[in-house]
Amino acid sequence: MAGRLLARVITGGEPRWAPLHDRRRLNPWREAPALVRFQSEVARHLVGDWTGVPSIPDDQDLGRGEGTMVRFRGHRVAVCREREGGPHTAGARCAHLGCPVHFNDAEESWDCPCHGSRFAPDGTVLQGPATRPLEPLDIPPPDR
Ligand code: FES
Repeated sequence: MAGRLLARVITGGEPRWAPLHDRRRLNPWREAPALVRFQSEVARHLVGDWTGVPSIPDDQDLGRGEGTMVRFRGHRVAVCREREGGPHTAGARCAHLGCPVHFNDAEESWDCPCHGSRFAPDGTVLQGPATRPLEPLDIPPPDR
């Protein structure tokens, strides 16, 4: 599209759709409140994700195909139990830039909301941009 637009501008014509690509179509002052609102929401989620992590209660029962993030001995731990397989624990910090991962019940994966990395229940990388697995933690998973 950019090539076609540039060719038309150079040859003297301007296509109907040219205004869609005009860099002046965005008004920073008009867009600023929405941008600030959006970024505040992102910051609120990020802080909330890290501060609202519960400790492991003694009677925590994690069903098959479920996962959650908990605090354990000062670590934020991603804990899950596969539908067909064992329980797993790993660091809850994404190996890309450190955002907290969330368990995706439908896919049985740990998903990072920041840039879209996905990890298997055991923390291995399914999809980048992360290239390393979730931090392995030497914490025994719940035995059930
Ligand atoms: Fe998780 Fe970037 S921080 S994908």
